[in-house]
Amino acid sequence: MSAKTDAIIVVDFGGQYAHLIGRRIRDFNVYSEIVPYDVLSDEIAGLRERFLVKGIILSGGPSSVYKEDTVEKVNQIFDLGLPILGICYGHQLIAHVSGGKVKAAAKKEYGITIATIDRPLGVLRGLNKREKVWMSHSDTVYSVPPEYLVLAHTENCPVAALKHREKPIFGLQWHPEVTHTENGEKMLRNFIFEVCGCRANWRMGDFVKNSVKEIRQQSRGKKCIIALSGGIDSSVATALAAKAIGKRLTAVFVDHGFMREGEPEFVRKTFGKMGINFISVDARKRFLLRLKGVTDPEEKRKIIGEEFIKVFEEIARKVGADYLIQGTIYPDRIESGFRRRSEKIKTHHNVAGLPTKMEFKGIIEPLRDLYKDEVRKVAEKLKLPQAIVRRQPFPGPGLAVRITGEITPEKIKIVKTSDRIVREEIERSGLKDRLWQYFAVLTETKSTGVKGDARAYGYTVAIRAVESREAMTANFARIPYEVLERISTRITNENPGVTRVVYDITHKPPATIEWE
Ligand code: XMP
Repeated sequence: MSAKTDAIIVVDFGGQYAHLIGRRIRDFNVYSEIVPYDVLSDEIAGLRERFLVKGIILSGGPSSVYKEDTVEKVNQIFDLGLPILGICYGHQLIAHVSGGKVKAAAKKEYGITIATIDRPLGVLRGLNKREKVWMSHSDTVYSVPPEYLVLAHTENCPVAALKHREKPIFGLQWHPEVTHTENGEKMLRNFIFEVCGCRANWRMGDFVKNSVKEIRQQSRGKKCIIALSGGIDSSVATALAAKAIGKRLTAVFVDHGFMREGEPEFVRKTFGKMGINFISVDARKRFLLRLKGVTDPEEKRKIIGEEFIKVFEEIARKVGADYLIQGTIYPDRIESGFRRRSEKIKTHHNVAGLPTKMEFKGIIEPLRDLYKDEVRKVAEKLKLPQAIVRRQPFPGPGLAVRITGEITPEKIKIVKTSDRIVREEIERSGLKDRLWQYFAVLTETKSTGVKGDARAYGYTVAIRAVESREAMTANFARIPYEVLERISTRITNENPGVTRVVYDITHKPPATIEWE
């Protein structure tokens, strides 16, 4: 038996979920790496030296199979003779390259769909006749050549799953990696363990050790500065960097004025006593000034990102830092369109919001390949305080992306108070550990109310609470009405300017978690 670790390669055609597939596979303790389709050959050769590559997954993607010449790439993959699973766009590619008919669907399928399993073979072994699956496509496979079998169909999609008659090649039009596909995990397990014959012989490994080594190498003996917000990502990155370069590190906490109530004090208290160089900057006025009159969400994100970097640069110059360390994680990069072919959803404050003219020699991102739950595991290993490990994620631009429209001191006050109320009530009701995030959004909508027998015309606050595993997809949480009632009563009582509270019942997708 080979001493090498078994691995599955996910070929990334730029779909939003390529990384989710990789994540799911790693959860099964099988190593997985994402390879951009345009650097396929080199990457695969390199991976095969280190790992026993047992199968290939072709991810979804925003393109149509006819738009780009990917045929050659897919043929190269076929030539490897390994088991293949095509998902969504990958499924269409297999059909297209093999001579099947793929064209724009008469009716686009988007969201949960019922698939009829005609032949429960291979990837679909052990599934029910009818399965809830999650679809998101505009092209459809209408027919396959004779060497392929149709395994499943839906009302609008005649070839929703396919299999080569002799070779271990499968295609699924739906997304098994998205939790809305009820038996998606079983489908992926079938492919990885039954079809590819993988052994579950990979552990997350000694991430801390490797990462410390990498930070040392990348910083080349120079001073570094880290953006510390007190959130889990930047805290873990700070702890790793502190381990790697000790006093060469300066952690900077910028109070932009959009932190939650009590947060700046908490960060100062926690990190101030950790024995690292720690600087706290009060930049509230300058952020507010730059955001005056700005209403566009992307513009807000860009301005905050730019101002943030400027503050860092000022401090970096003072301390003589050459490198900037950041707590950027996988989903941040995906959603900022870091792959050429993936669609940009929103500019994440700590990634694409950076100005191009940087004064640093480079940026070091030790957590760039991790998902949030993996970052939490690293935090546990680093023995960071539970208050940080268990903290809900908080966006870099803070409450600024939870105020729609122009940001004013009055609105900041409302959203801060409302956010504290949501946190207090959710924590009091014992729901905290079930939820990924829970917060308040101050919307621009004003509505009529009645307060103390008089007409009031005030703001509408929206409550958002979601369950999620890694923020790529999320479900709105089914919070008991009594808890919502307490939140609503307190928000309208404790904020004179608020006349209405609504609850956001949208999943991600189609919505995102934050409102902006
Ligand atoms: P969305 O709103 O895109 O958010 O569904 C996914 C997750 O990312 C967080 N988020 C951010 N995190 N910088 C960050 O570090 C940002 O600019 C940013 N924007 C959103 C969000 O809270 C959720 O957990």
